[in-house]
Amino acid sequence: MNATECIKGRRSIRTFTSEPVSHELLDEIVEVARFAPSWKNTQISRYIAVEGAKKAELAEKCFEAWKGNADMVAAAPMVIALTYVKNRSGFERDGSYSTSKEDRWQNFDTGIAAEAFCLAAYERGLGTVILGIFDEFKAAEVLGVPEDRGVAAFIVIGHPANSPEAPKRKEVSELVTYLS
Ligand SMILES: Cc1cc2nc3c(=O)[nH]c(=O)nc-3n(C[C@H](O)[C@H](O)[C@H](O)COP(=O)(O)O)c2cc1C
Repeated sequence: MNATECIKGRRSIRTFTSEPVSHELLDEIVEVARFAPSWKNTQISRYIAVEGAKKAELAEKCFEAWKGNADMVAAAPMVIALTYVKNRSGFERDGSYSTSKEDRWQNFDTGIAAEAFCLAAYERGLGTVILGIFDEFKAAEVLGVPEDRGVAAFIVIGHPANSPEAPKRKEVSELVTYLS
């Protein structure tokens, strides 16, 4: 599989078989995802792999805004809490913001890491879906995430039970503007 096939072939997978995700395979995926670029190579992304009773608790308490996500987390073999170390990406050493985007580079870095993670998982035959609709404060509480970390997103992961078609993409002409 080349990079184009990997990027174009990855889909958001929302139904999974009951086969567990081996911890060796998950380590392998993170071993790849850690090569994602980050602000000044700060590497703020951290992965909490959640299974069993803790996953059930997450599903029950953290996805009230959309039951579809709660059901997905409950049914999947594993969910990853993609967390980050606060106050590094986008910050100077003295704690001031480096740019007018202030701390939003944290989300940029974890977004890149999330895509790298999902592509590495896809290359290994696993399905993923990124979840943005959740209560980040309840999630931090349930997971025991310390004050100096934040929860950026969840990534549901498992062995795919289906292979959906790609949702329609915009044409290149709509996406690119050339200026000279
Ligand atoms: C930042 C972000 C948040 C998302 N949040 C959710 C979500 O809460 N629930 C969900 O089912 N899918 C979620 N998705 C998946 C998108 O719906 C999906 O990527 C999009 O429809 C394109 O489909 P594809 O991933 O198969 O190409 C999210 C994706 C991203 C990048």
